[in-house]
Amino acid sequence: MDLFNVYPLFDIEPVKASGCTVTDANGVEYLDLYGGHAVISIGHSHPHYVENISSQLKKIGFYSNSVQISQQKELAKKLGEQSGYNDWHLFLCNSGAEANENALKLASFYNQRKKVIAFSKGFHGRTSAAVAITDNPNIVAPINANHEVEILPFNDLDAFKNSVSDEVCAVIIEGIQGIGGIQIPDAEFLQQVQAICNAQNIVFILDEIQSGYGRSGKFFAHQYAGITPDVITIAKGMGNGFPMGGVLIHPKFKATYGMLGTTFGGNHLACAAGIAVLDVLKKEKLVENSASVGEFLMEQLKQVPGIKEVRGKGLMIGIEFEQPVKEIRSALLFKHHIFTGVSGQNVIRLLPPLSLTMEDAQAFLQAFKDVLQGA
Ligand SMILES: Cc1ncc(COP(=O)(O)O)c(C=O)c1O
Repeated sequence: MDLFNVYPLFDIEPVKASGCTVTDANGVEYLDLYGGHAVISIGHSHPHYVENISSQLKKIGFYSNSVQISQQKELAKKLGEQSGYNDWHLFLCNSGAEANENALKLASFYNQRKKVIAFSKGFHGRTSAAVAITDNPNIVAPINANHEVEILPFNDLDAFKNSVSDEVCAVIIEGIQGIGGIQIPDAEFLQQVQAICNAQNIVFILDEIQSGYGRSGKFFAHQYAGITPDVITIAKGMGNGFPMGGVLIHPKFKATYGMLGTTFGGNHLACAAGIAVLDVLKKEKLVENSASVGEFLMEQLKQVPGIKEVRGKGLMIGIEFEQPVKEIRSALLFKHHIFTGVSGQNVIRLLPPLSLTMEDAQAFLQAFKDVLQGA
């Protein structure tokens, strides 16, 4: 059997990794400014993370959600404390798309409505409702296309006010748009959307799957705007590579047995990974590190000639060019051994582990300038 060929691949095979360094099968070391697509939060193979998962596996790796799993409660408690959402509730699942699917389902159970408002260039995943609210017709199959969705222009309050009504079930927006090219929602836009949602009993969902878990320099990117949504979805950095997702739920939602469910979500190993991530984020002050190293990188990048715009917060940075960035990324990867991400054709996306040091940032900047100068 061969693999279903859906990914264009680099001819590089990482075989080990540590911190912000990835080593390939030929022993070549790469600086990781991509974090495996914003997934690596505390750094590759962090010793506390490896120890927590390994020791859990030696005790018990899995049982179903029909028994007590105290690690789930520990994870929820620590997540509440570190995110500032102490009195909320947590539903655990396995991926970002699944988190959004459950968030939408919860919203619809809550107000018994169906229509969702989402925003242009947004990405929310590939399962049925999640892909239907994603602004990319190429990945929406006919079977996904029957949801009631309106995609509105991003940051356009007038368009929002014109479209919104008390027939809307949910409004969903990313804390910072990732795949859309690191686009930041205006604070005032978020505040007004929240007020309108509250007034019309619409569920306001913040997709923090890419922008959350400290990536923006705050635990959640929406916290820059001082808002409190109704539901927050998480995945990626939550497990530092262990597949897991979650839905953070405002106390106004009442759970009933069977309302949401999953076989694998919240399993012992995922919880061990998730707890280790939160421990390390706190102990090593990685949210603060993300803010300071990110600010340094952005300031420096803004002084580099030839760039159209630098956008972002913390270690979620977009570098937009007038021209396609394919060659720049190739030179960074194959000549300087630095992984970066991309959005569309013209934006380089930096999504490194949150443990990136100032020295790592400087090494990247030097290589980046060399590439731009054709050195
Ligand atoms: C903002 C956002 N939401 C949802 C998803 C989907 O997450 P997953 O691939 O884990 O299903 C992604 C993935 O890139 C994302 O960036």
